[in-house]
Amino acid sequence: MSDKVKIFDTTLRDGEQAPGFSMGGEQKLRLARALSDLGVDVIEAGFAIASPGDFEAVQTIAREITDTTICSLARCNSSDIHAAGDAITPAKKSRIHVFIATSPLHREYKLKMSKDEVLDRAVKSIGHALEYTDDVEFSAEDAIRTERDYLKTVVEAAIAAGARTINIPDTVGYTTPEEISNLFQFLTTEIEGASKAIFSTHCHDDLGLAVANSLAAVRGGARQIECAMNGIGERAGNCALEEVAMALRTRHDFFALDTNINAKKIIMVSKMLSSITGNPVARNKAIVGQNAFAHESGIHQHGMLANRETYEIMKPEDIGLEKDHLVLGKHSGRAALKHRAKKLGFTLSDNQLASVFVDFKTLADEKKEVFDADIEALVMGEAISTSGPWAIDSLYVSAGSSADKSPEANIQLSHKDGRVVKGTQNASGPVNAVLNTINNLTGYDLKLESFSARSVTQGEDAMAEADVRVSTRFESYHGRGTSTDTILATALAYLDVINRIERRSKRLGSEQQKIAAQH
Ligand code: KIV
Ligand code: ZN
Repeated sequence: MSDKVKIFDTTLRDGEQAPGFSMGGEQKLRLARALSDLGVDVIEAGFAIASPGDFEAVQTIAREITDTTICSLARCNSSDIHAAGDAITPAKKSRIHVFIATSPLHREYKLKMSKDEVLDRAVKSIGHALEYTDDVEFSAEDAIRTERDYLKTVVEAAIAAGARTINIPDTVGYTTPEEISNLFQFLTTEIEGASKAIFSTHCHDDLGLAVANSLAAVRGGARQIECAMNGIGERAGNCALEEVAMALRTRHDFFALDTNINAKKIIMVSKMLSSITGNPVARNKAIVGQNAFAHESGIHQHGMLANRETYEIMKPEDIGLEKDHLVLGKHSGRAALKHRAKKLGFTLSDNQLASVFVDFKTLADEKKEVFDADIEALVMGEAISTSGPWAIDSLYVSAGSSADKSPEANIQLSHKDGRVVKGTQNASGPVNAVLNTINNLTGYDLKLESFSARSVTQGEDAMAEADVRVSTRFESYHGRGTSTDTILATALAYLDVINRIERRSKRLGSEQQKIAAQH
């Protein structure tokens, strides 16, 4: 007999608010669609009051996604709740998530409020949120460091006020599995009215315990897990969705709990998030890292050949990682490409399909074999190039060493506003020559912190993927590019960063204009 645990995804809120992970409205909508397909029960789409852009993103997701509950975060004050309520109004299934800190440190130093004032504010805010939706979640921020008797009082009052989900966050990633399990056992059995609410866990990963703590909370009685894809979130991040979902699935014998997650979509959503934010996951990351299913040592390979279960507790296919196989060739048509992309988790619009198809034909001409990973890389590249505004029209590089010549890059770029710029630079190496030329042409002066290029498919004509980390005076950005040519992939990755910076400043500029227009 097994019970259900709800998966509350906060990739677009707690995840997105972490430095280096910000996303535009259109990107958030794409991810929300993918998360809904993945089977999460609740999507926390943003913090509506944070900015007009956040408000609009929550509202658009609420309008477009009909199968999943769409939630906005709000502090316990009327303007936050009003903004959250307005933003989620179009949703078929909506939730408002109100929170206030309950720990002594937060009460005294951040809120400067007494216990009674916090309690009163929580109860009033739940009442206010219920005017917009009957699905209200209450979070006692920093619950883990809150006095147990006071936490009990607050939670009882929140349930009596009508909150149907009670979230107990480990805001600072401080707890341990035994401690949190014990706390949830206490809350779910000792609280008056406990049976009227679902208890939820929200763990941060400061000590690397977020997944273990979330699972322990579930053992203690939690029936909602708040988590984010690839574990992104404030500081060290949140509980990783893919890890907690696969732990519950793989160790069903132990937990006897089900989720609505369609595990086969995990790898696709993970990759989509990496491509949108420009942050690849670590190679050795559990479940979705490149090495998660790689068996390199002879002893392991021998065991695997004899019986996969000797070293494999999950199959790569379980999370949607299919073996690379020849799928399409130069005679394949648009419908086949669209169908294959769909199987890989990408729903292409007609415009996107038209553009990817051109690149696909070029690639199919260049390569003898076209693999799933090639198509994936093309589609990801499409997501990058359509987002512009800069694009590479042509790039030619000479490399090597001689007494009188140094590597040279000759590049032409075009901008969505109609500008076409062209230039040549020499440098000590071809990559430097390319990056210096791009800096010159776009007018950016960026500092390259690191760069790597690797092959993502097999063969001499394999697709290369380049990652660059670049810093401006204030921030650090990640960019990614793919091509059969490593230097071109690097140039695309670098331009991806410039495009991110330009799109961000445009967004911030238009948000400021919107704010100005509202006052
Ligand atoms: O970590 C935290 O406490 C939060 C709350 C807003 C739920 O993110
Ligand atoms: Zn959090």
